[in-house]
Amino acid sequence: MSIHSEEFYSVLASQNKASAVQEILKLLQKPEIISLAGGLPDPATFPVEEIREIVNHLLITNSAQALQYSATQGLPGLRQSILNYLSPEGIKGELENIIISSGSQQGLDLVGKLFLDPGDVAIVELPSYLAALDAFCSYGGKLIGISMDEDGMRIDHLQEKLTQLKDENKKVKFIYTISNFQNPAGVTLSLPRRQKILEIAKRFNLFIIEDNPYEKLRFEGTSLPSIYSLDHEGRVISLGTFSKILCPGLRLAWMLGNKEVIYKFSLLKQATDLCTNILSQLIAYKYFQLGKFDENIQSNIDIYRQKRDVMLAALAEYFPPEVRWTKPQGGFFVMATLPEYIDTQEMLIDAVKEKVAYVPGSPFFADGQGKNTMRLSFCYPSQEDIKEGIKRIGKVIKKKIRG
Ligand SMILES: Cc1ncc(COP(=O)(O)O)c(C=O)c1O
Repeated sequence: MSIHSEEFYSVLASQNKASAVQEILKLLQKPEIISLAGGLPDPATFPVEEIREIVNHLLITNSAQALQYSATQGLPGLRQSILNYLSPEGIKGELENIIISSGSQQGLDLVGKLFLDPGDVAIVELPSYLAALDAFCSYGGKLIGISMDEDGMRIDHLQEKLTQLKDENKKVKFIYTISNFQNPAGVTLSLPRRQKILEIAKRFNLFIIEDNPYEKLRFEGTSLPSIYSLDHEGRVISLGTFSKILCPGLRLAWMLGNKEVIYKFSLLKQATDLCTNILSQLIAYKYFQLGKFDENIQSNIDIYRQKRDVMLAALAEYFPPEVRWTKPQGGFFVMATLPEYIDTQEMLIDAVKEKVAYVPGSPFFADGQGKNTMRLSFCYPSQEDIKEGIKRIGKVIKKKIRG
């Protein structure tokens, strides 16, 4: 008799089901479909030659270390290089303030593991990064969403919600924000709001989790100080990653925070994977030593800026006037809002018939709203495909617009 696996799952694991959208998106791997759905970096941005040379050199000169286990908190040389790299942005710290993680996704999982008991509240943006929401929910976290506008999270709504949760004696643990070129909305949290969120976190005694994978991919305008750099109380945990500035396949990222939480993260990480891939860490460390980061990031910015421009121009040309969309100053994503009577999840079927795909917005909204929104990614497809893809989606939307 075959085993009925489901009977054995934990309560939390049983609640974790593949979403309808994930199922639809799986069908989109066909080459004839132009996908504006995925958030993969453009492989043209990967410094393949440099990595090949570094790996060759490492395996010839240092294979004993490169293929060995390593310290849970990460390679000290790499941690120091990251701190040095971030110091012009006002980020100060010692080696004990930083841990290397296997992608920021592991960082988000560790955040859930460290802070959330079932029923604890995590404040998130509406919309927010789906896999962060999944990570927090997998520990039983209760997600409360705060709406956003073009300057990021709405402070008035945040204050209102936190006051209400306090009155209800709810245990709120942290505010999760993607402060630059947000995934999926493409918006950036303004400086006054960064300061305000920090003030509010102090007042309500909460941690802030600042997830910052796109910060370096700014196409225009001035960089804003991170919330982490504005904080003097060890109240902010900052997540950064090599995925968008080097390549995601290395699965390499970092977390910054006060020494106690970083130590705690390392204890929890030990039980998860013992250590982050040391070969990846050595590659990134050597890449820092080559002094090529800024050059590579600048060329990535040029590639993504052009793609963003193509997408914004195509949206203006092909989308009907009833649709609004964000205008990101960096990152990978644009979010479009359609008239309320259009359900983008239902419309995806029509889009696939037209051989184009996007991600319906609703799963990004912790409160289940956003049915009339969609995320459009300009990072992976070619400029031609971006233009053609937007043209096809525009055609599908126009058929849904009520006259
Ligand atoms: C907001 C956000 N956080 C975290 C991640 C995960 O990054 P990593 O590749 O470092 O796991 C992503 C990836 O798309 C992201 O958009």
